[in-house]
Amino acid sequence: MDRDLGINLCRVTEAAALGSGKYLGQGKKNYSDNIAVDQMRAMFSYLDINGKVVIGEGEIDEAPMLYIGEQIGDPDAPNQVDIAVDPIDGTTSLANGTSNSISVIAVAPEGCLLNAPDVYMKKIAAGPLTKGKIDINKPVKENIENVAKALGKKIGDVTVSVLHRERHEGLVREIRDAGARISMVEDGDILTAIATCLSNGKIDLIMGVGGAPEGVIAAAALKCLGGDFQGTFAPSDYKQVKRCLNMGVDFDKVYNIDDLVKGDDVIFAATGITDGTLLKGVSYMNNNMAQTHSLLLRLPSGTIRYIDSIHKLDQKLDQK
Ligand code: FBP
Repeated sequence: MDRDLGINLCRVTEAAALGSGKYLGQGKKNYSDNIAVDQMRAMFSYLDINGKVVIGEGEIDEAPMLYIGEQIGDPDAPNQVDIAVDPIDGTTSLANGTSNSISVIAVAPEGCLLNAPDVYMKKIAAGPLTKGKIDINKPVKENIENVAKALGKKIGDVTVSVLHRERHEGLVREIRDAGARISMVEDGDILTAIATCLSNGKIDLIMGVGGAPEGVIAAAALKCLGGDFQGTFAPSDYKQVKRCLNMGVDFDKVYNIDDLVKGDDVIFAATGITDGTLLKGVSYMNNNMAQTHSLLLRLPSGTIRYIDSIHKLDQKLDQK
């Protein structure tokens, strides 16, 4: 893929963050999500790509824009790409004015991103030194011990990030019994997965159940960063089971990072909406200016870019 696509994808996540960040703490979950989708969709129209949304806002009948299967850009342009979007990962965080809300995109050549249904997925992820040492089917304690060994840390210094959900009560007990630290987050397991590679030991491991689409997007970022990720589909009700069956999910399979994100080319871009583990949220400044903080990753080069941008919003109105 054209490496200049990265900066343009960053423009897309910046636009979604700038539009939705206005609604910090306003309790407007769906409204702010719609704004982010609109902004993302509008900015996509400026890109010279031939893309298909494989992870998006849902099926065509439930999402007017960025629905799964939607064509983005010029269908006649060469080199079709798969696009995975989450205009806001952490809609509740944005609505409540809490941390870890981001706007995010992953793009890879056609057929490389798993078309995951919108159901739950059991996940485990960790950084580059632990590659090949984590196993979703092994007991929690054993994974923590193996990660500690790979990182050269005492078990008591290993930090596991877990989404704060009732379903994780048993997992939390097991992590405590193993003797590791727990960093509990209200939302945003894409960002915490990435933090296993980039937080300098603040988060070493993520475990637990979150969204499967978020799992694929996190795997795209971890693949760029040399980390490891495994997931198994964990539908929570009959509707989710049906969605999985429609999309050919194998319930017994452990989806490794290379099953979720195939090949050796992927670009990942994320912009903070609210302050979070790795990225600062949007700040709106004087003279109708705003500042964003983004992360841009590209697999072939392995470059990790943090992009701080100041936007002159008046000038943006007629010039995208
Ligand atoms: P949304 O923005 O779609 O609400 O996702 C936020 C999130 O925290 C994800 O990062 C995570 O994978 C998922 O929710 C977990 O789902 P649930 O909130 O249903 O436990």
